[in-house]
Amino acid sequence: MSNDPWLNAPPDGVEARPNATAGRVLMGGPVALVTTMWRGKPNIVPISWHMPLSSRPSIVGIAVGQERYTAEMIQHAQEFAISIPTRPLLHHVQYLGTLSGEHIDKFEATQLGTFPPRTITAPLVAGCCAWIECQVVEAYPIGDHILFAGLVTSVQVDPRSFDDRWLLGETDTRPLHFIAGNRYSTLGSVMEARIPQASEAPERVLRDRIEEELELTREARERREEAVGELREEVRRGHAIDPGTLDDLAKSGIEMSADDLIDLSRGTMLGEPPRE
Ligand SMILES: Cc1cc2nc3c(=O)[nH]c(=O)nc-3n(C[C@H](O)[C@H](O)[C@H](O)COP(=O)(O)O)c2cc1C
Repeated sequence: MSNDPWLNAPPDGVEARPNATAGRVLMGGPVALVTTMWRGKPNIVPISWHMPLSSRPSIVGIAVGQERYTAEMIQHAQEFAISIPTRPLLHHVQYLGTLSGEHIDKFEATQLGTFPPRTITAPLVAGCCAWIECQVVEAYPIGDHILFAGLVTSVQVDPRSFDDRWLLGETDTRPLHFIAGNRYSTLGSVMEARIPQASEAPERVLRDRIEEELELTREARERREEAVGELREEVRRGHAIDPGTLDDLAKSGIEMSADDLIDLSRGTMLGEPPRE
């Protein structure tokens, strides 16, 4: 592959999609329950289009459809809160996205618990794992949405879910992520990336590390093939087989062939000498 992109063919199987797909491609972050309070009435709405915008001062953005009741409420209240739901709130989140606060009191409809904010008036949602309170500093109409930039005035977290980053402990303590439609997920595991030291040439080191990983995979495959070979030989000789070996093999993804199974069940019962 050349360093000049114009000389390279696109990877095999690449397909074009409508431009509107960009939003879905970028989805996957934790879903936010955005709460607002205006004229003594609270509202709550799931929002997945949100992003950090500045760290000093801390400002976050949420993109709210211009037609949504929430957009009107935030424009009046000039504040909003974000509560990050966990898996037990999965069905509530989806349901809240089908109702409009213009016609219905969503807190009444869902019986979600709330507790007081520290710096604004919009309530915080119980059963969540992190809460951010914001004062609106800018509102930018962009296409059919309004990007509300909120100066962060308070952050609270559940330490079972977050210390200085997401912990990904027990599944029910992980934030709920939105994929699209009615599909959600939680993050699976944490991986630690190794980066080249200043003294190392990054592209060479990265290439070497990929090769290292491939070599490890190759070695593991060879070791497993060797183990299967030995096992087959044991079966052929009619020797006892440690059932634990079979478990280990199954765990490492080794498939025994039909012949092996026949041998095992017919001629060479586990732990017994072969029948002629
Ligand atoms: C998981 C999820 C994420 C959503 N994300 C957004 C979003 O980022 N921006 C938006 O305007 N609407 C979003 N919606 C749609 C609104 O939540 C929905 O239209 C809601 O009923 C509006 O309520 P309201 O009329 O009380 O403002 C989302 C819906 C769901 C279920």
